[in-house]
Amino acid sequence: MTSSGKKKVAIIGNGGRSVSYSEVYAKLDDVEVIALCDINPENTALMAKMSGLRGYRAYTDWRDVLKNHPDLDGVAVVTPNNTHREIVMPFIERKLAVALEKPITTTMADSEDILLAARKYDTRMLIGFVLRSAPFYKKIHEILESGVVGNPLSIQADELASFGVSSCICRSPWRRYQITSGGSMMEKSSHDMDLLNWFSSSRPVSVNSYGGQRLFRPNPLFPKLCRNCPQEKCKYQSKPEFSLAAQDAVLHDFMQHTTAEQNCIYNIEKDVADNQSVQIEYANGMTANFLLAFNCMGPRSSRNVHIVGTKGRIYGNVEENSVQVYTNEDEHFETYEIKPEGGHSGGNSGHAFELVKMMRDPAYKPAQDAYAGYLSNAICIASDISRLEGHRVNFRYDRDGFIQFV
Ligand SMILES: NC(=O)c1ccc[n+]([C@@H]2O[C@H](COP(=O)([O-])OP(=O)(O)OC[C@H]3O[C@@H](n4cnc5c(N)ncnc54)[C@H](O)[C@@H]3O)[C@@H](O)[C@H]2O)c1
Repeated sequence: MTSSGKKKVAIIGNGGRSVSYSEVYAKLDDVEVIALCDINPENTALMAKMSGLRGYRAYTDWRDVLKNHPDLDGVAVVTPNNTHREIVMPFIERKLAVALEKPITTTMADSEDILLAARKYDTRMLIGFVLRSAPFYKKIHEILESGVVGNPLSIQADELASFGVSSCICRSPWRRYQITSGGSMMEKSSHDMDLLNWFSSSRPVSVNSYGGQRLFRPNPLFPKLCRNCPQEKCKYQSKPEFSLAAQDAVLHDFMQHTTAEQNCIYNIEKDVADNQSVQIEYANGMTANFLLAFNCMGPRSSRNVHIVGTKGRIYGNVEENSVQVYTNEDEHFETYEIKPEGGHSGGNSGHAFELVKMMRDPAYKPAQDAYAGYLSNAICIASDISRLEGHRVNFRYDRDGFIQFV
């Protein structure tokens, strides 16, 4: 904390996502972003300008942030997925309030290391599951908790990713490779796996999955760059539209500034799936069916969820801003209107505030913690093992909650 009483924060990784933290902190009187760090200083300058930050020190190596700022209260690590473990560990050891973007990491071993360290140093962590802060999903959780639909028996959910999101995954320098992003399930749907875990009030015990690169496969008829392409109606020739609820408008703006050339979405080198279905069984018997599909706009795209409980059902589409509930006994149908504000269906600013709450109150522990990140990761990793090796993956838990795949 500064002599002025402000909480001091550093943001490591100053790309598209980091703006959703910095734009919130720039407006707070009791929070000061004192250090920004990115291997690309141009991204730091752009991000600071977009969010109106002033008075920070800029770094290109996160180790210098640790060295020069012994009095930090919190940190947000917002770098590509495969860099999370290395960067976050020393901040965990320093016992700061730590926000780490989802997915926690790209491998089981790395996420186990992070979880072990968080437990060893008793460090509070906030994993970037913004949808837990989105009014639509908060409402669904509240209805489940109220018991009006009974216990959840099964959930059908999907993420029907917009043209913009599909383009971002297939073209981003690190998202398009399994090794750096952990795959599409991890990069796009680790949120959804976390929501399923949250709604289940249980833990996953078995995963089965099918899918792969079904749509954006190499096509010898198309050239490498869009500007040389004769196709006039390809949605991916210009920078495509982003879905409004997922917002990512900031990401969109960021890409406008940073993507100079438009590569053919079919021919660009990549190895991540664009269509994947996942089935999950939970310890309490609940089952979930989930679909991740790219190339989707229009009505009922983005995210849908349908929960069947012992006494009724809950369903809705996140962009339609309403949650529907049907209760069997009284045959009653109720609609709850949702009023989200800002990106990620209204989850972005609430999520950024979670880190502020952690810094203001040393006893505050967010529910979307390291173990939530670990469980979501385990499903994403198991789903890729299942679809690539062609078998179901069962989870065996030890007494500390660590998972072995069998
Ligand atoms: N919670 C969400 O809803 C949400 C949304 C988007 C992205 N994300 C996550 O946020 C993270 C970043 O995504 P993004 O969209 O900002 O990506 P991005 O590619 O726009 O930005 C990543 C930034 O990290 C920088 N970087 C790379 N290696 C670094 C290092 N070693 N040290 C410092 N900086 C480094 C890059 O130069 C770049 O500026 C990812 O983990 C992603 O999954 C979460």
